[in-house]
Amino acid sequence: MSTAPSSTAPTSPTLPTHAPSDSGVPASARDFAVAGLVVIVTGSGQGIGRELARQFAAAGATAVVADLDLGKAQGVVTEITDAGGRGLAVRVDVGEETSVQAMVDTVVAELGRVDVLINNASVFATLEKLPFDEIPLARWEQVMRVNITGAYLCARAVAPHMRAAGSGRIVNVSSDAVTRGTVDYLHYVTSKSAVIGMTNSLARELGRHGITVNCIRPGSVATEVDRAVNPTTAVRERAASLQCIPRGMVPTDLVGIMLFLASPASAFITGQTIACDGGYTHSS
Ligand SMILES: NC(=O)c1ccc[n+]([C@@H]2O[C@H](COP(=O)([O-])OP(=O)(O)OC[C@H]3O[C@@H](n4cnc5c(N)ncnc54)[C@H](O)[C@@H]3O)[C@@H](O)[C@H]2O)c1
Repeated sequence: MSTAPSSTAPTSPTLPTHAPSDSGVPASARDFAVAGLVVIVTGSGQGIGRELARQFAAAGATAVVADLDLGKAQGVVTEITDAGGRGLAVRVDVGEETSVQAMVDTVVAELGRVDVLINNASVFATLEKLPFDEIPLARWEQVMRVNITGAYLCARAVAPHMRAAGSGRIVNVSSDAVTRGTVDYLHYVTSKSAVIGMTNSLARELGRHGITVNCIRPGSVATEVDRAVNPTTAVRERAASLQCIPRGMVPTDLVGIMLFLASPASAFITGQTIACDGGYTHSS
């Protein structure tokens, strides 16, 4: 049981305290809204990112649909605006510093600020499985460049704006593949493990500025996109049968946790990696 500090107890001048009559719970603790926020979703021209951008816009945010493929990004923004939402399409290569800086400059010039960054872009659907010692070095380096350096560059580019605002949200996207140590997937598993460590360390550096940094670890998500390595129906059904909730996962399953982590209500949650996989894995 925790004990409230007495009025005579010494307190640190740097730590806020609350009078005993004060619940200590600000109104933001009940605020799950994302309306009005500017949310960058990288790699949102298709798949999971596309659904996140559409759902953030449906919840009243302005979704920045940032992708290597501008045509796909524009298509998603058309979907958003046709549904009555707000979106901005931006071409970005997250692995290129100047491209990332240009994306953030465009967002700030057009929309005035950046509230949320979702580091979703990855080399994923096009990635082939190979024994670790047969992965071409150029492919290995491309996966690291996009999946790790891309998340780093995007965080680095938005941080000054979030620091100036005194608040911000960064959400990285890992994968349940890291917990299974999936065979013939060393490039992907290594990259998706790195973003978990990046999350922990960035959260330490940015917390004092009111910026939270968290990570989502999805299970296997069926999207509208075929993968280079498409699990067979039998494999997918077996994976689903191992979940606590035994059905296939879809992009919409990730929306609730993403909206929560973007909202004021999650202000005291940072440096966490949260599995969203129907209970396929457990954290302890
Ligand atoms: N689908 C799944 O089963 C699953 C499971 C766990 C984690 N994830 C992760 O979720 C995220 C989204 O998955 P998805 O299935 O939608 O992937 P996807 O491959 O279908 O989409 C990735 C998007 O990122 C874009 N992209 C690739 N390189 C880029 C770059 N350099 N700069 C900017 N954009 C770039 C692509 O154009 C594409 O639109 C990825 O990080 C992936 O690793 C997916």
